[in-house]
Amino acid sequence: MRLFIALDLPWTLKERLAALAGGVPGARWVPPENFHLTLRFIGETPAFQAEEIDLAMSALRARGFSLSLAGVGVFAKAGRPTSLWVGVEKNPPLDHLRSKIETALQRIGLEPDRRRFEPHVTLARLKDPVEAKLAAYVQAHNLFRAEPVPVEHFTLFSSRLGKEQSVYTAEVEYDLT
Ligand code: 2AM
Repeated sequence: MRLFIALDLPWTLKERLAALAGGVPGARWVPPENFHLTLRFIGETPAFQAEEIDLAMSALRARGFSLSLAGVGVFAKAGRPTSLWVGVEKNPPLDHLRSKIETALQRIGLEPDRRRFEPHVTLARLKDPVEAKLAAYVQAHNLFRAEPVPVEHFTLFSSRLGKEQSVYTAEVEYDLT
């Protein structure tokens, strides 16, 4: 199965993010039920390893914290914008949780994730967006800031690639103390 570890978001926040959709031709907006903040992408995983991952995550101890989403930005590949996202205000406990997860996964034999952790919630995938509209969108929403939400658990998700959108299933929730 294809796995990743993420923060699920409260429904009120998903609704708030859903209200940001629109105004960028070439954007495929993420459906509200799919909004999440990825802590660690794992990818295709055999069943035995999924069990080891579950055990490792169950044993992990970290504190709950508060999360504020703020600002919008764009990821690009080879100069082409690929995704539009909402950012996260500086959050040391979030970074700490992410590094504890990374350490625990390496300890059970997963390859290190060498990419820099850039916490974000993807709003839309972009395919040849109208660049002027994209720039206007980013400018118009840069001051976006959502009410802080409490983070009391993190989640192991599986993902199935659907026709239009991936289908994410929350497999296990792990409590933060
Ligand atoms: P994204 O939202 O920035 O695209 C499930 O696929 C989640 O894992 C997505 O949120 C995706 O991030 C993230 N992810 C990170 N690395 C990935 C990769 N190599 N392939 C697919 N998804 C990845």
